[in-house]
Amino acid sequence: MSKNVLVIGASKGIGKELVSQFTKQGLETYGFARSFGNDSEDTVHHIHLDLLSPTIKTDFEQAISGINHIDYLVHNAGFIAVKPFLELSREDIHKCYQVNVLSVMEITQVCIPKMKPGGHIVMISSIGGFQGSLKFPGLSAYSTSKAALVSLTELLAEEFKQSGIAINCLCLGAVQTEMMEEAFPGYLAPHRPAEIAEFIVDFTLNNGTYFHGKIIPVSVSNP
Ligand SMILES: NC(=O)c1ccc[n+]([C@@H]2O[C@H](COP(=O)([O-])OP(=O)(O)OC[C@H]3O[C@@H](n4cnc5c(N)ncnc54)[C@H](OP(=O)(O)O)[C@@H]3O)[C@@H](O)[C@H]2O)c1
Repeated sequence: MSKNVLVIGASKGIGKELVSQFTKQGLETYGFARSFGNDSEDTVHHIHLDLLSPTIKTDFEQAISGINHIDYLVHNAGFIAVKPFLELSREDIHKCYQVNVLSVMEITQVCIPKMKPGGHIVMISSIGGFQGSLKFPGLSAYSTSKAALVSLTELLAEEFKQSGIAINCLCLGAVQTEMMEEAFPGYLAPHRPAEIAEFIVDFTLNNGTYFHGKIIPVSVSNP
C-alpha cells in the first residue's frame, strides 16, 4: 500500500519544495493551499483549501474524504503580520492565529482518526516561537501563534502517547522565502527552501521512531 503524506501550505516557499521532494521519495503527496502556480508538478495532488475559512474543518473533511489513510501530516502553512504591537488590528491577530494555530487544531482533529501507529505529525513552527530565543519587534502576533504551536505539540504528544503516532515540532530559523523577505527585507537567510525541505522530509519519514513530543530548533542563526 502506498504511503500518503499531506502537506498543508504547499504552493510556494518551503511547502512547494516539500511536495516535490516527498513525491520524489515515492509518496502519494497531497498539497493544500489557496492557489497553485502553473509550474506546479503534475504528480502532486493539489487541493484548494483556505485556512481562513470559518468552515475550515468541514471544508477539510470534504477535501480528504477520498483519502482513506494518512501516514504523514506536515503543518507547514504560515501567515505573518509584521507590525508594531500597538498597530496590530484584530484582523492581523486573527489571521495569524487562524492560519498558524486554529486551523492546525481542526485539521489535526480530522486527520488523527485516519492515522495508524508509525504515523508522524510534524508542526512547522519558528525559532521566534521557541522559548528563550532572541525576539524581534513587530512579530508579536506571528511569534506568539508559533509559540502556541510549540505548546500544542507537547499537549497532543501527551494525549496521543498510546496511539503510536509521533508528534513533533520543528522551529525553523531563517529560510529565503517570500515570508522571510516580508519580515526582514534585505536579510540574506542561510538556507534556501530546497535545503530545509530536504531536512524536513528526512525528519518526517525517518525520525518518528526516535522523537515524540519534541520541540527542535532548526536554526544556525537567530531569527
Ligand atoms: N521562511 C522562514 O524564514 C521561516 C522561518 C521560520 C518558520 N517558517 C515557517 O515555515 C512555514 C513555511 O514558510 P514559508 O517561508 O515557505 O512561507 P510562504 O512562502 O509564505 O508560504 C506559506 C504557505 O502557506 C500557505 N498559506 C498561507 N495562508 C494560507 C491560507 N489562508 N490557506 C491556505 N494556505 C495558506 C501559502 O499558500 P497560499 O498563499 O497559496 O494559500 C503557502 O503555500 C511557515 O509555517 C512559516 O511560519 C518560515
